[in-house]
Amino acid sequence: MASTFSFPFFLFLFYQVFIPICASDEAEILLSFKASIEDPMHSLSTWSNTSVSPLCSWTGITCSPNPSYSVTSLNLQGLNLSGEISASICELPGLSHLNLANNFFNQSIPLHLSQCIALETLNLSNNLIWGTIPDQISQFISLRSIDLSRNQVEGKIPYGLASLKDLEILNLGSNMLSGSVTSSVFGNMTELVVLDLSENPLLSSEIPGEIGKLDKLQELLLQSSGFHGEIPDTFVGLRRLQVLDLSQNNLTGVFPLGLGFGLENLMSFDVSENKLSGSFPAGICRGKGLINFSVHSNLLTGSIPDSFDECWNLERFQVQNNGFWGEFPDALWSLPKIKLIRAENNRFSGEIPESISMAAQLEQVQIDNNSFISKIPPGLGRVRSLYRFSASLNGLFGDIPENYCDSPIMSIMNLSHNSLMGRIPELTKCKKLVSLSLADNSLTGEIPTSLAQLPVLTYLDLSDNNLTGPIPEELQNLKLALFNVSYNRLSGRVPSSLISGFPASFLQGNPDLCGPGLPNSCLEGRPKSIGPTKLTCVLISIAFAAGLMVAAAGFFVMYRSYKEKSRRGPWCSVFYYPLRVTEQDLIMGMDEKSAIGSGGAFGRVYILRLPGGEFVAVKKLMNFKSQSWKALKAEIKVLAKIRHKNITKLMGFCYSEDSILLIYEFVHRGSLGDLICRSNFQLEWSIRLRIATGAAQGLAYLHREYIPRLLHRNIKSTNILLDADFEPKITDFALDGIVGESVYVSSMASYSGSYCYLAPEHGYSKKATEQMDVYSFGVVLLELVTGRQAEQSGSGDSMDIVKWVRRKVNVANGAFQVLDSHVSNTSQHEMLGVLEVALRCTSVMPEKRPTMFEVVRSLQSLDSKSRFHTLSSVSVECCSTDEHSEASRA
Ligand SMILES: *[C@@H]1O[C@H](CO)[C@@H](O)[C@H](O)[C@H]1NC(C)=O
Ligand SMILES: *[C@@H]1O[C@H](CO)[C@@H](O)[C@H](O)[C@H]1NC(C)=O
Ligand SMILES: *[C@@H]1O[C@H](CO)[C@@H](O)[C@H](O)[C@H]1NC(C)=O
Ligand SMILES: *[C@@H]1O[C@H](CO)[C@@H](O)[C@H](O)[C@H]1NC(C)=O
Ligand SMILES: *[C@@H]1O[C@H](CO)[C@@H](O)[C@H](O)[C@H]1NC(C)=O
Ligand SMILES: *[C@@H]1O[C@H](CO)[C@@H](O)[C@H](O)[C@H]1NC(C)=O
Ligand SMILES: *[C@@H]1O[C@H](CO)[C@@H](O)[C@H](O)[C@H]1NC(C)=O
Ligand SMILES: *[C@@H]1O[C@H](CO)[C@@H](O)[C@H](O)[C@H]1NC(C)=O
Ligand SMILES: *[C@@H]1O[C@H](CO)[C@@H](O)[C@H](O)[C@H]1NC(C)=O
Repeated sequence: MASTFSFPFFLFLFYQVFIPICASDEAEILLSFKASIEDPMHSLSTWSNTSVSPLCSWTGITCSPNPSYSVTSLNLQGLNLSGEISASICELPGLSHLNLANNFFNQSIPLHLSQCIALETLNLSNNLIWGTIPDQISQFISLRSIDLSRNQVEGKIPYGLASLKDLEILNLGSNMLSGSVTSSVFGNMTELVVLDLSENPLLSSEIPGEIGKLDKLQELLLQSSGFHGEIPDTFVGLRRLQVLDLSQNNLTGVFPLGLGFGLENLMSFDVSENKLSGSFPAGICRGKGLINFSVHSNLLTGSIPDSFDECWNLERFQVQNNGFWGEFPDALWSLPKIKLIRAENNRFSGEIPESISMAAQLEQVQIDNNSFISKIPPGLGRVRSLYRFSASLNGLFGDIPENYCDSPIMSIMNLSHNSLMGRIPELTKCKKLVSLSLADNSLTGEIPTSLAQLPVLTYLDLSDNNLTGPIPEELQNLKLALFNVSYNRLSGRVPSSLISGFPASFLQGNPDLCGPGLPNSCLEGRPKSIGPTKLTCVLISIAFAAGLMVAAAGFFVMYRSYKEKSRRGPWCSVFYYPLRVTEQDLIMGMDEKSAIGSGGAFGRVYILRLPGGEFVAVKKLMNFKSQSWKALKAEIKVLAKIRHKNITKLMGFCYSEDSILLIYEFVHRGSLGDLICRSNFQLEWSIRLRIATGAAQGLAYLHREYIPRLLHRNIKSTNILLDADFEPKITDFALDGIVGESVYVSSMASYSGSYCYLAPEHGYSKKATEQMDVYSFGVVLLELVTGRQAEQSGSGDSMDIVKWVRRKVNVANGAFQVLDSHVSNTSQHEMLGVLEVALRCTSVMPEKRPTMFEVVRSLQSLDSKSRFHTLSSVSVECCSTDEHSEASRA
């Protein structure tokens, strides 16, 4: 009697009473889990017994609505957690998903989590998990997905895994697993959809054949993992497979017969960088879903069947570095989504068809070193998305079409070593062209002057043609790192800066060229350009000073009358620091005696001694957009609020209708530019490095830390001031807000003083960017490393430092030659390090430049190295190959 009654009664009690209590139980379980975890960012602050928020809204918790309050999922990824993953979490009866990815858990695989009876997915990706995978992994009976990728798991893949029959996702990628993969481990995982063993370079194994029997498999990633032997024949049966990556292994043999037909759902096929031989996998695009196809860098031969007509989705086709021959499949050239065609270093023949114009997404074509016999179709110029076309070492013939470089983003064009004829068409549209090689053809006519209007053109090779006429003077305006016109029939005077910077071999084979230093110096020789830079620098200073004196008297008169005028206008002042000075004091003090320098693009600077005895620097802006007093005050306040040891303090300003006086703190030593300009410029390396690092920090602060973010827009060595301890302070920052964008741009344009600090994209880009500042800073670094001024102006012959350095480092040991010889040899390694940073900062392509934070980090690492005298060897090669590889990678 009692028992028949009590059972339903207890059931009743359970539901009515215990479930609500359960919620607080779960809270306790979670709190005890939290107790063993370190949580530096306090991400789990909502996890608290005094928390007002209900358990189910705690960070990372998901509850199932039914039965009420049962935690089903815990997602704590990316919270910088460390400490211990405690088994207590398994007391949550309903926990089925646990994601602790992207944290810092440093322990062995937490086997005790197998006590979580409902656990279906476990994600420990990207932690510091170490040790082997024990056989007891088999205890995770309920798991459907386990992700241990990106840890430091080592040892063999254990047989115990075989028991996890329900597994759908197994990811062991990017670990240190080793040994061979037992062939029967995966055979029974018939539910497997994703298998990832990639990036385990210590594995050394054949690919287990049973993987081919996992007929639900959609992704198989085995790249970079030491697999050798053949691709198993069973792979032909992987009908559902979408992604197959076997690249960068040591696979040999031929493709299993019928592979291309078997993989009918394939989207991505990558077997590149192995030692596969035999012929192309026929039928590979039968499923029409293929997007990526890569077999590059193998030993494949034979021809490629022309079966790509319906490969509508193909985007990337890479067959380069094999032994293929025969006609290149014609249909590929006009596929609607094709982006990348790489077939270089084979023996393909065939033509580039006019229908290439239909490849509206095509970005990159590399077919160098083949046997294409073709004209260049005008259709090529109509592909607006093309940025690289490289077809050297083929049999291209006929004229170069007028529009061959019309794509607005074209950067690299290489048609060298072909049989092209006729003239080089004018280039007007490809403003982003970095590299143009037309070497070794039979081109005639003159070098088009329009080349000089391509702002970022850096590599120009026209050698071995039949070009005539002069070398256009305008080419001197480009920042060319390579200019080769050897073996043509050019004539006339070589523009001087194109002689001085390059090896003579780039001009040879043109008997009619003349100029100083060439076998044929021009008849009516003109005066030799002024020699050493330092001398120039002095001469200019002297000339300038003399000019100043003459002008001073005139100035004085004008100034008097100006002062009269300005006294009349009402002045408004705001001081952010207690300055015991009036506008009248300032204006009276600003005369020729207190002025320094010639004034930059925006106005002159005066050094004033205030009645209290302290000094200030006053910059007077005469040119600005009129804006309301309130707006102006707001703009200046933004600058005045900046507090950084490497940025000069803006202490206040005065404003009248026709001028703005910006009052800056006075910095004792003047500017870095003044120092470098001196004929006896010598500064020990540790100080130069300190200046570089400090200035970089100031700039990085403006770019990313200060709110609102600011651009400097006028970085140059004369805007880096040095205090008594050589601590740098950047000045003249972000004046665009004060004077207004249009005035800023026009003033900069009309001021010709610092052209060489301007990034090349100034030529085509309207918007100022961080990368432009980075470029300018790179120029300053070059000044520090070489001890030369950025712009070495002589009579009509100017050579900017970026050009000069690039040309030097392009030859063997050139990097050593650019280093300032006044600096002791013991600093050479660090100087090369800074040179490398500088070259990256001055990359032609803005996106290749580092951020200022990266620059700071690089400089600091050099600095700390120098402090502990442990010089690491900085590769010189990187300096010399950087721009080349940049151009070739672009
Ligand atoms: C979180 O980790 C990242 C990466 O290591 C680190 O940069 C960041 O400072 C950490 N945050 C905290 C608060 O520890
Ligand atoms: C809350 O937790 C703290 C520490 O875990 C404990 O000392 C305290 O007694 C708990 N308070 C309640 C109300 O449970
Ligand atoms: C992980 O922990 C071990 C021992 O506690 C320690 O030696 C090791 O440095 C830690 N690893 C990392 C990357 O912090
Ligand atoms: C594990 O978490 C990482 C990080 O969020 C994610 O990229 C990865 O896809 C997850 N793994 C699985 C199997 O869902
Ligand atoms: C795989 O399944 C077969 C048949 O069910 C069984 O005989 C074999 O022992 C299983 N292998 C493993 C490794 O569990
Ligand atoms: C590839 O295999 C060859 C020959 O078996 C061997 O010599 C070579 O070391 C292997 N390379 C790698 C990266 O495993
Ligand atoms: C194809 O390749 C690109 C570039 O490597 C990659 O981003 C994309 O995810 C790949 N697509 C597939 C389906 O694997
Ligand atoms: C051209 O390709 C062949 C293979 O087809 C290779 O052996 C040769 O080195 C390549 N030549 C150049 C200049 O890359
Ligand atoms: C260059 O032109 C000359 C004269 O027209 C001709 O004799 C010579 O063969 C040409 N050279 C090349 C490489 O085309």
